[in-house]
Amino acid sequence: MRILFLGDIVGSPGVEFVKSALPVLRARENIDCVIANAENASAGSGMTPRTYRQLRQAGIDLVTMGDHIYKKLEITSVLGEDDRICRPANYPPEAPGRSFVLAALPNGVTVAAFCVLGRTYMRPVDCPFKAADAALAALAGQAKIVIVDAHAEATADKYLLAHHLKGRVAAVLGTHTHVPTADEQILPGGTAFQCDVGMCGPYDSILGRRIDRVLSTAISFVPSAFDVATGDVRLSGAIIDVDDATGKATAIRRIIVDERTLAHWNAVP
Ligand SMILES: [Fe+2]
Ligand SMILES: [Fe+2]
Repeated sequence: MRILFLGDIVGSPGVEFVKSALPVLRARENIDCVIANAENASAGSGMTPRTYRQLRQAGIDLVTMGDHIYKKLEITSVLGEDDRICRPANYPPEAPGRSFVLAALPNGVTVAAFCVLGRTYMRPVDCPFKAADAALAALAGQAKIVIVDAHAEATADKYLLAHHLKGRVAAVLGTHTHVPTADEQILPGGTAFQCDVGMCGPYDSILGRRIDRVLSTAISFVPSAFDVATGDVRLSGAIIDVDDATGKATAIRRIIVDERTLAHWNAVP
């Protein structure tokens, strides 16, 4: 079966583009399951229940979050009630939300996903390796296919997690840094890996935010509102082929859809 994993969806430009591109991409690539990191979906930081519903309606089966998870506190009601969205697995037990999520798909296959945060240049959290082990132990027997969102600042954190989990999960896919890396590979044991799958949002930006605002603050140290940018919106992620009998990945491919590509697909179906 084929899984599409989307990197951080940023602001309304990212949400709107995913809403228009995803149905087309799903059909063109015969995607069976879509997983997305949506920690930046509402105004660039956090996600509201309304945005969550929009993303689910757009065809996203499972949603992971990251360090921005509680920036829109309204999401805690969804985190408590809905079983398709999870919080980082290495947050403390008191943190609202589930440590992993499951989707029973129409093709009869169940896919699981969870997210862990890195610890380098980020707020201190529990051990991502131990948290991943605990999530896998809790998932035992529930899903053959497990996808892990490695939400980390440092590339080494993501490589370490991928090698810790190789042969035990279908894929370890990086998010949080918003810039796609060209290192997709299948690790020994059938684990697909890409250090960062890129963001779904405006690329004419500084990681999704207005260039003028971020640049002026970086130079002058005077704070400004880092509003979400608008130009050159792209969907970015990875497509992973998984053997549903074994839960092992057989292929990984980077996918980027920009506005021109989507317009072409819509003009020439
Ligand atoms: Fe992000
Ligand atoms: Fe993040």
